[in-house]
Amino acid sequence: MKVTYRLLAAIIFGALLSACSQKTEIKLVPLPQEVTVTGGSFTVDNSTSITGNAEFEINYLKEKLSNGASIQLKDGAEGKRVIEINVDPQSAVGKEGYTLSVLPDKISIAASDNGGAFYGVQTLLQLMPAEIYSEGGKLGKIKVPCVEIEDAPRFGYRGAGLDVSRTFFPIETIYDFIDWISYHKINTFHWHITDDNGWRIEIKKYPLLTEKGAWRGPDEVLPPAYGSGNKRYGGFYTQEEIKAVVKYAAERNITIIPEIDMPGHSKAVIETYPHVGCTNKDKTMSVNGEVNNVWCVGKESNYQMIDDIVAELVELFPSKLIHLGGDEVNMDNWKSCPHCQAFMRKMGMKKEIELLNYFVRRMEKIVNKYGRVLVGWDEIIKGGELEPSTTVYGWGSMKRGANAVREGQPTVFLPGQYCYLDMKQSEFERGHNWAAIVTLDSCYKIDPIKMNDFTPEEEKLVLGIQGNLWCELLDRPERFMEYQFFPRLCAIAEAAWTNAELKDYNDFYGRITSAHYDRLHNMGIKFRLPFPEVVYEEGILKVTPPYEGAVVRYTADASEPTTSSPVLKGNIETAEPEKYRFATFYKDCNQSMAVGASNIELYHYITPEVSIESSYKESESNRSFPMSNITSYNMKKYWRVNRRSYPGDFVTYTFTEPVECSKITVETGVPNITFYSCTEGHVEYSYNGTDFIKGDEFVYGTAVIKPQEKVKAVKIVFDGMSDALITSFQNLRIEK
Ligand code: ACM
Ligand code: ZN
Repeated sequence: MKVTYRLLAAIIFGALLSACSQKTEIKLVPLPQEVTVTGGSFTVDNSTSITGNAEFEINYLKEKLSNGASIQLKDGAEGKRVIEINVDPQSAVGKEGYTLSVLPDKISIAASDNGGAFYGVQTLLQLMPAEIYSEGGKLGKIKVPCVEIEDAPRFGYRGAGLDVSRTFFPIETIYDFIDWISYHKINTFHWHITDDNGWRIEIKKYPLLTEKGAWRGPDEVLPPAYGSGNKRYGGFYTQEEIKAVVKYAAERNITIIPEIDMPGHSKAVIETYPHVGCTNKDKTMSVNGEVNNVWCVGKESNYQMIDDIVAELVELFPSKLIHLGGDEVNMDNWKSCPHCQAFMRKMGMKKEIELLNYFVRRMEKIVNKYGRVLVGWDEIIKGGELEPSTTVYGWGSMKRGANAVREGQPTVFLPGQYCYLDMKQSEFERGHNWAAIVTLDSCYKIDPIKMNDFTPEEEKLVLGIQGNLWCELLDRPERFMEYQFFPRLCAIAEAAWTNAELKDYNDFYGRITSAHYDRLHNMGIKFRLPFPEVVYEEGILKVTPPYEGAVVRYTADASEPTTSSPVLKGNIETAEPEKYRFATFYKDCNQSMAVGASNIELYHYITPEVSIESSYKESESNRSFPMSNITSYNMKKYWRVNRRSYPGDFVTYTFTEPVECSKITVETGVPNITFYSCTEGHVEYSYNGTDFIKGDEFVYGTAVIKPQEKVKAVKIVFDGMSDALITSFQNLRIEK
């Protein structure tokens, strides 16, 4: 055929157009390795039939179509349009991979294992309208675009980790979570099921672990912590519940790896079975502010108890990997324990790290005895030799994960600065920041292969990556777990699934905001929305919406925008920029945090000279967080007292001269985290420095005073026990 230049140009133009329309029509997360849009569509309706040998996946798809739409597929291969899902272990499709072919009269999913077939179905669902994820969908007919997809994961381990100790999640939430991660082709749920602040798995041989160790409160063995306050708080999962959820997850190609964290992070065990701990008088604190939370290495009876616990674990969890922690051990505990010290002498050990290595090696033996492989956090490589199969979770940094690989251990990468979803998502949001501010982009970037210079042999030890949520700060706001995971976990899912050369953050962000938000919404997830960027320049508030098509609403009185606030149409000219707040809205049922202009002072605090008196002693060694921090009016600074607070504890701020002001906001806890705060107490204020007026109770660490006269002093008074072993105070925020 003779092709003229004009025709050639038309063909190229047509191809470009179709490439563009591919981008706009097919918005899959995680991105498959190869997608070809072939044109036309397949109609799914009540006359469509379904056949094949992948029984679970066939039933799963039928159920999605009858719940998320109102389509009842017919069984069998008869009819004009047929869906076929087959698993053939002999096929050339790779592990967990699939091919998905959509022709006008046939949809075929082929895989060599059920995981692959399940993922073929997940991709097919993403080719349908987002309502397919809802309950009670009404669509009677769905058009699926014709495509040819060949897909398989980059990494064999694609994980999501959840700490259920600091915050307890009911089993129903665990089921939801399994569904949510399965939609994203994540294949491992790492269940951090015990820690200092709650033991959450029934162990028949040691019933006190859950009778006592699953609960915190004023009259419980575990004290209140992390916002659980002066009430009984907790819960646990029965073995029957665990078996059922493990089966549910397995059907969705998810392995559940349980973690019993030891020898540190073990206050829940030690408070219920005290002989497990060391015998020491010195009460040194772990990095989480806990005392007496470490298993004694020198007591032989402890290893029998661990064996008993592991024996029950392996009956519940078929996972090859069994995680027994090993992180953040307060070894000072061992230094002052006669059993540990005698054991060191007997074994000729010089340093306490050798005790950790000994403990880990005993754990290896126990786990290996049951035909399983031990997993531990990256500290476990420090003490010496390990079994070659022992698997390391590299969390402290990329380097620590890389070191584990170089030591020859199989390694999962979850370095805090990319993968810890308890880190805040911007300077203003709730969350930790010790590793970094972890943005969607940070999560997307993680690539343990590209970021390290591994040999091909070392690369084989990189099992994959995991997004991880620690739950110290999950008591509020409501559904914060969903906010912290999504969409950051979508970024981690793509980083784990999609080959590096296909990754493109802008393209991913476009797919998330223009298509995947709708899916998350229909999945029932209250995901995080990004806020707009606002700057004030030359008398104008310039607002950049966070993505194309984002709806931004605003207020002009510094209050939080709501669904009845006006929609922003353009920049705003004003002489009072500090009064404006902006937030992004999704379908008027989800909104971002509210922000003002980032380049101006939103609050005009005054800074009168002030001195402090209190019931706490200033510690000599408290160089990072001294009392002088809270008279500096640097709002990022705070005073940290290394003890729990009790009724009657107080801090009084006395001004050199009485201060005229309209409002004083009294914040306790760490700025922007409200952690280590006054959980039960009130403020008092005085006009003369001697007579005090009782003001508001603290709510989540904050109380506000609106004085009628000049104020001479402000007092924080504790009425109940605080819920951490540390208490922190901040600068007063005083407004004219
Ligand atoms: C950890 O974050 N301590 C594993
Ligand atoms: Zn000991």
